[in-house]
Amino acid sequence: MKDKVSLPEHIAIIMDGNGRWAKKRFLTKTAGHKAGAQNLRKLAESANKAGLKYLSVYAFSTENWKRSPAEIDGLMNLLRGYIQEYIDDTKKNDMRVMVIGRRDRISPDLREKIEYLEKLTAEKPGLTLVIALDYGARDEIFRAAKKFAKACGNGTITGDNIDEEVFSDFMDTAGIPDPQLLIRTSGEERLSNFMMWQIAYSELYFTDKLWPDFGFEDMMEAVRVYNARERRFGG
Ligand code: IPE
Ligand code: IPE
Ligand code: MG
Repeated sequence: MKDKVSLPEHIAIIMDGNGRWAKKRFLTKTAGHKAGAQNLRKLAESANKAGLKYLSVYAFSTENWKRSPAEIDGLMNLLRGYIQEYIDDTKKNDMRVMVIGRRDRISPDLREKIEYLEKLTAEKPGLTLVIALDYGARDEIFRAAKKFAKACGNGTITGDNIDEEVFSDFMDTAGIPDPQLLIRTSGEERLSNFMMWQIAYSELYFTDKLWPDFGFEDMMEAVRVYNARERRFGG
């Protein structure tokens, strides 16, 4: 019998390895990203059923614009389809979808779709799926600092009531608890500019599995490892 696992409130995942998954099968990179997107859909559904409250996933980094136009186009089209599927599904689905990252470099039609889906699902009681798109932690912190400076300048906030929590409200993840567990697939052991503010005390879990192969059972294995760890928070 499997031992009982208790889910953390928030799991974050760096979904890496789509390219290698495709290469192994002599497929195009876009085919790998498609398999990755399908995997995310399945995993989010299972996580929702299991009662997870927040799942944050890294879908496209501020650095991923360096990739070929064909790959970027393929990725953006997949995202378009992905967001549309959630829009079509909202009646049956109790998931809330949020997108973090820059919005100014994404094509207007995709941005509109995202905003529409966010509004449509804002009150949903199920899993909150946080999709990081054109996201970089340094960019997020920098944008937060700019907004923060502006709020100080116009007197919305004053020197006396500033603390880390007040600053957190200027981040894209305002209102979302920090992830307890960060998973990265495909054997790479780095953050690649993901959620650096939010994961200060997260447990890190790395697996060699490539993202399209990383299923719900693999996530539960990561949770079991997380459950067995002792979190000290410096105490
Ligand atoms: C991760 O897969 C998805 C994105 C970065 C969009 P990769 O495309 O980075 O896959 P590998 O690292 O080349 O295998
Ligand atoms: C990180 O993966 C970004 C996403 C998973 C979206 P990359 O494949 O872009 O990161 P590096 O280049 O290996 O650091
Ligand atoms: Mg990669």
